Amino acid sequence: MQAYRQSWEQDGFFLIPGLLGKEALKDAMEELGGIYPSGAEYAARLRDSRSGAASSTSGGSAGKGRLFMQNPEQFAGQIDFPWTGEALNRLTVHPRITEIAADLLATDDLRIYQAQLWAKYTGATDYEQPLHVDYSSHTLLVPKKKSRPQQVEMFLYLTDLPEECAPTRLVPRNLTRDMPPVPYHVWRGTHPELYKAEVSFPGRAGSLLVYAPDIWHRAVDMTEPEGTRIWMNLSYRVAGTDWLGLQSFQRIAMQPAWQRFVAGSTPRELELFGFPPPGHEAYDEDVIQGLSRRYPGLDVNPWSAALRT
Ligand SMILES: [Fe+2]
Repeated sequence: MQAYRQSWEQDGFFLIPGLLGKEALKDAMEELGGIYPSGAEYAARLRDSRSGAASSTSGGSAGKGRLFMQNPEQFAGQIDFPWTGEALNRLTVHPRITEIAADLLATDDLRIYQAQLWAKYTGATDYEQPLHVDYSSHTLLVPKKKSRPQQVEMFLYLTDLPEECAPTRLVPRNLTRDMPPVPYHVWRGTHPELYKAEVSFPGRAGSLLVYAPDIWHRAVDMTEPEGTRIWMNLSYRVAGTDWLGLQSFQRIAMQPAWQRFVAGSTPRELELFGFPPPGHEAYDEDVIQGLSRRYPGLDVNPWSAALRT
């Protein structure tokens, strides 16, 4: 971890190749097959839809490198947590991942604030983006650059990611440290040196890309024939940082997938999503009883025991 921490502090990003092995991902991969088509299946659908209509859903190669808001099709493959698959949901609290986040942010009181699946397919649209920073939508402030960051973004690769399937391009922080907080995008014409300095991290499924929200980066277009790239966006923050965030978990709390996830989680895992720890003043006997009705199967003993003491 020491080498990774050095890259984190120096460059603002690193890849851990094969953090999760095939066995650890087996069930999640099966679930993924029920959510997304394979690259070949998607290509066949695309051929069918194009032979049946003059226009298609594809942006093709027109407008290369448009801003995301000008090309919402780039986000068509995004699905928010919780997913229909229990094994996929459990990856959000996988200890090998949360330990890395806690270590980098130097906290044992961690929150998750982004959990999304994302799939891209060759030919679906033009995925090329300009270099940009994510803090534009991950914080109300601007990031701290000179001291330890309070949030971290991660991509958990769920398919093998060769160069042809367009791994994200990133620019080392030493070249961007003095960039002003706005604009959030820069173009090749005005900042050619940044585009020349881009690095990318191809890797196998189970690898974890870690980067900070002040890191300039971008997506590029998929070139592998019938290619697909699927990954999980996971972002964590230090507790108590209300100005950082992206998703609200309260708004999904009525979903059966969330209720099953809660029932299968420990109090510590639930703290990641904002549950106060057992013993917190948010709980009394009524609340604990209510939790057991709201989340059938949840073992409320840890909460009850803390209340008694
Ligand atoms: Fe981004």
